[in-house]
Amino acid sequence: TKKAFIFDLDGVIVDTAKYHYLAWKKIATALGIEFTHEHNELLKGVSRVRSLDIILGLGNVDASQEQKDQWLIQKNEEYLSYLVDMDQSEILPGVMTVLEFLKANHQPIALGSASKNARPILEKTGILSYFDAIVDGNDVSNAKPDPEVFLQAAQKLGISNENSIVFEDSVAGIQAANIAAMTSIGIGEAAILNEAKFNFQDFTYIDEAFLNSLINN
Ligand code: G6P
Ligand code: MG
Repeated sequence: TKKAFIFDLDGVIVDTAKYHYLAWKKIATALGIEFTHEHNELLKGVSRVRSLDIILGLGNVDASQEQKDQWLIQKNEEYLSYLVDMDQSEILPGVMTVLEFLKANHQPIALGSASKNARPILEKTGILSYFDAIVDGNDVSNAKPDPEVFLQAAQKLGISNENSIVFEDSVAGIQAANIAAMTSIGIGEAAILNEAKFNFQDFTYIDEAFLNSLINN
């Protein structure tokens, strides 16, 4: 059977979650808002606009739309500055092996990311050609945990939701996959991603037997 294998980007394929954190941290610090790694968990999988609102909420900061727009631009410029030298070395351990295996087994692959920077990142890391469909922050209007991004991805691949598998590092993303009745696979801390159907610390723990079981189920 053909299954849709849908990958989140940040924190799943590439280690960019740390860059999002650093960029937000800079804005938060300038505003005198404490912003910890724990707070950062709340922002994973969450759109840029919503992330800023969450941070401002942490510090009870009110701001005009113009001011917010300025911070959003600043955050993205700071974030992009970390990506200038990005290459395939930023691809997380085990990801290439899994992508190669899925390709060799003719399984459709999609990206399902909230990021508006997804395409340049796939280009810089040299893996754009692995993806049969890309759905990113430019395509969706409802952010995870709304399943829109994954629904669009499955649709583009022509595969039903029940035959779709989602790799996610965020709580919101796992919830989105579950709402869509897709198979959710958490990548990262099992304690945080406890709503996922399966969980792996990283892709090096995902072996061919497991992938075969997903394909043949
Ligand atoms: C991903 C990340 C979030 C980020 C969002 C938007 O979901 O996990 O931390 O805020 O994408 O990314 P962008 O690159 O458009 O700011
Ligand atoms: Mg992510």
